[in-house]
Amino acid sequence: MTGAVAGLVLSLGMIAPPVTAVASAGYDLDTASSLQVVVNKHRQLNPTGYVPGSLVAVQGERLRAQAADAYKQFARAAKSAGVNILPISGYRSFSQQASLYDSYVRQYGQATADTLAARPGYSEHQTGLAMDIGNASGTCALQACFANTPAGKWAATHGWEYGFIIRYPTGAEGTTGYTYEPWHMRYVGRAVAQDMKDTGIAALEDYFGLEKAPDYL
Ligand code: DAL
Ligand code: ZN
Repeated sequence: MTGAVAGLVLSLGMIAPPVTAVASAGYDLDTASSLQVVVNKHRQLNPTGYVPGSLVAVQGERLRAQAADAYKQFARAAKSAGVNILPISGYRSFSQQASLYDSYVRQYGQATADTLAARPGYSEHQTGLAMDIGNASGTCALQACFANTPAGKWAATHGWEYGFIIRYPTGAEGTTGYTYEPWHMRYVGRAVAQDMKDTGIAALEDYFGLEKAPDYL
């Protein structure tokens, strides 16, 4: 490398923003009401007891308005293709999440519970941007085999078109801290969902260049 080229590389290196900043540019990952907020075991909701300003009903569940609109379009398109999807769990308050987490702890013990459900104040469900979905038939509800059912395949293939990602992908437990949840859809907006599909980056932490969060700090 000549001195001039080395100098150019050096100066480009100095002005080029780090990859993480490129991925998260323009997105607010920290504010609880942001559509791109990242909540995980290292990133508690702020405030911990956050309640979305408004929630919209979706077949007995509730979501933030943008996520609800997107979800309805997603489910309508699935139905047109002969895939009947039902919402199982959308918005959950801090206290609802506490009850759910505690029931998992009683059933499985804390270590396993922590791989299945978030502690209160750490769940995406509390943002109103996450929806657990199931087949109308109930096949493989909240089980890994859901991925191989019509609703699971529809979500994996078409969710991005409506701004959703499968937030806890297979093989990403070391990053997300949760086992594979092919039923847990997270609304992040169409631009992010499409870019994650195009780049093949499956975990939201990796996409935004955030640290892995397998365990609570
Ligand atoms: N099952 C997901 C991780 C939650 O409880 O938010
Ligand atoms: Zn979920």
